[in-house]
Amino acid sequence: MNKIIKEQISLLKHSATLAINEESDRLKKKGKKVYKFGFGQSPFSVPESVISALKKYANKNTYLPMQGLEELRLAISNHLNQNNDNIFTSEDIVIGPGTKELMFLTQIAFGGEILLSAPSWVSYQPQAIIAKNKVHWMQTSADTNWFPTPEQLESKIKSANNQNLLFFMNSPNNPSGTVCSNLQEIAEVAKKYKLIILSDEIYSQLTFENRYRSISNFYPEGTIVSSGLSKWCGAGGWRLGFFAIPKQLNKLKNSLKILCSESFTSVSTPIQYAAVEAYRGDHSKYLNAIKKILSFTGNYVYENLKSNAINVTKPEGGFYLFPEFTNARFSSSSEMCKNILNKTGVALLPGSDFGVDSEKMLARLSYTDFNGDNFLANIKGSKNLNNIDINKFAPNIAEGISKLKDWSKSL
Ligand SMILES: Cc1ncc(COP(=O)(O)O)c(C=O)c1O
Repeated sequence: MNKIIKEQISLLKHSATLAINEESDRLKKKGKKVYKFGFGQSPFSVPESVISALKKYANKNTYLPMQGLEELRLAISNHLNQNNDNIFTSEDIVIGPGTKELMFLTQIAFGGEILLSAPSWVSYQPQAIIAKNKVHWMQTSADTNWFPTPEQLESKIKSANNQNLLFFMNSPNNPSGTVCSNLQEIAEVAKKYKLIILSDEIYSQLTFENRYRSISNFYPEGTIVSSGLSKWCGAGGWRLGFFAIPKQLNKLKNSLKILCSESFTSVSTPIQYAAVEAYRGDHSKYLNAIKKILSFTGNYVYENLKSNAINVTKPEGGFYLFPEFTNARFSSSSEMCKNILNKTGVALLPGSDFGVDSEKMLARLSYTDFNGDNFLANIKGSKNLNNIDINKFAPNIAEGISKLKDWSKSL
């Protein structure tokens, strides 16, 4: 019974997130108020028309084609082509139960090595470990808006010494909330070395300023676009994501399809029908309203935190910030987050969960601890938001941020 777990699986650790959640629960049981800034979930309900579509199609009960419902794949390819200079067809789209699963199966299929920038989303690396793919990290900083520079990428590619490299790029970024501004230069390096880019665009529709640009505009032949319903549509629990894979990567697409059919078979049928409405309908009113709230709240947190004791980068999309507590002296960011939780009730995730050095006093802050529907209902129309709205409709944000700032000053 000694070795019943595969070696690479036994190497996986529970993330520090779990420890923070357990500690939060313990404090809540003791009656202490906890500010849930560790959570990465949309505070808004799914748009009404998408919910109606789900109700309408609840009777659809047969399996769908493993690649996904043709109508949905068509709606998604049109959506991508409208928003960027893409030329995807329905054949290029693969539907999965969330992009996380599609990324996992891609790592299983991929015969090469993985490039990740730190900080980056918590699951890329564990998935690489499970799939036995070597990971090469590129450390970034606030000076480069938390993205690797083209020079850094090129030197990492050269030192990796493997011709098959898959680079996970995520903009708007979790955890930093920043948007990559030098896509073209990064695409040029990728083209030169035939890098495959997995462009994780799960927050693309929550970009605050300007139109969202995908790196697939600059490097269509080597970019897989990954997105889904989880963030912009407030439907994380519906579990629907997709990959758009260019024809040049058909081999990868075909292997992915086989792995899909041998694992989840196909995504829930009513959810796929409802997703047709999500991608075909015009949700600009809903999106503009939720972006207005998210960007105002993000900026409120940014303006109220930045100080001598806290470095933080202005949010550009999604719903996270990645503050650094410059006066904090703890053995790790995880220890710091435990201290913050115990002293203030504010739950944050340590930077070390995102691949950055645990000695850096960084943490991810999610500014979604408010009732999104109530906020939405109260700001109808073209009204500009102000700090009174935050106090009224996002009181936990106002209170928690003030406690966090006081904590940073007390160090
Ligand atoms: C950066 C990033 N990528 C991917 C995902 C996974 O999304 P999905 O719900 O599509 O699996 C998340 C969810 O938290 C995320 O933050």
